Amino acid sequence: MTIAASATTLAWRRERETRRATERFAAAAFESLLFAIDANDADTGRHVRRVASGSLVLARAAGLGAAARRDVERVALFHDIGKISAALFDIVHDGGYGLSKADREAIASHPRRGAEVLSPLAPFHPQLPEGVLSHHERWDGSGYPRGLVGREIPLAARIVSIVDSYDAIIHTRRYKAGRSRVAAVRAIRLGRGSQFDPWLTDIFLSPAVQRRLRRAEREIGERADSGRRHIRAEPYAPDIMFRWREPGPVGRMERARRPRLATRSASLPA
Ligand SMILES: [Fe+2]
Repeated sequence: MTIAASATTLAWRRERETRRATERFAAAAFESLLFAIDANDADTGRHVRRVASGSLVLARAAGLGAAARRDVERVALFHDIGKISAALFDIVHDGGYGLSKADREAIASHPRRGAEVLSPLAPFHPQLPEGVLSHHERWDGSGYPRGLVGREIPLAARIVSIVDSYDAIIHTRRYKAGRSRVAAVRAIRLGRGSQFDPWLTDIFLSPAVQRRLRRAEREIGERADSGRRHIRAEPYAPDIMFRWREPGPVGRMERARRPRLATRSASLPA
C-alpha cells in the first residue's frame, strides 16, 4: 500500500469513528429524553414504546426505507413529550370529574408544546418537531393544531396517528377502560379517509400487518416480563436506534405506587 493510500484509509477510518461516536451520543441523548417521559409518567413511557413498535411495523409494510423508518420511530417515541407538565399530568390523572373546556384546551396544546421542547433538535432532525406537531392532524383537515390536509401532513405523523389511536383504544388508561381489538379495528376503519390516510389505513388493517402487530406487542411484553435488556434483534420489534430499555427506577416506583384504575370515561386526545 502506498503512503497516499494508507493516509486515505486512515482518514476514512477516523471519519467513520467520529460519525459513530456522534450517532451514539445522539442515541444517548434521545434515550435520556425517553427516560424523562418515564420519570414523569410510566404509563406514557410504555404507551410511546408500543406506538413506536407498531409504527415501525406499519412503516415497514408501507415500504419505507431505513432512514424514513428511523424518523417514524423518533416521532412515535416523542409524540407525547408535550405532556411532560405538572399541570397536564394533574388534568389527565385526577380521576373522578369530567374535563372542563379549559382542561381540554390545555391537553390539546401538547403537540405544540412537544414541538417546542424538541425545537433545538430541528437543525439536526427537522422531521422530529414537525412530526410531533402534526400527530393530531386529520386527513380531512379537521385536526389540530394547523388543520393540515391529506399529504400536507408529514408521513411519519400519518403513520403514528393510526397506531396511536389503535393503542389508545385497546389499552386501559387511568381515565378510560381499554376496549377490544375488534372495536379498535372498527374505529380505525371508520376513520379511513376522514381521520386517517386511506392508503396507510388499508395497509394497517391487512391481516398480515395485524398479525405482525400482535407479535410485536407480545415481544415487547416478553421483554418487560423478563426484566432483561438488549435481548435480541427481532424483525417486528425493531431496534433501529434505541435500546428499548425498560422504564428506569423512577418509572418502576411510579408503577408500584399508583393504582391502575380506569376512573374516567371521557375521551382524551391520545
Ligand atoms: Fe397526542
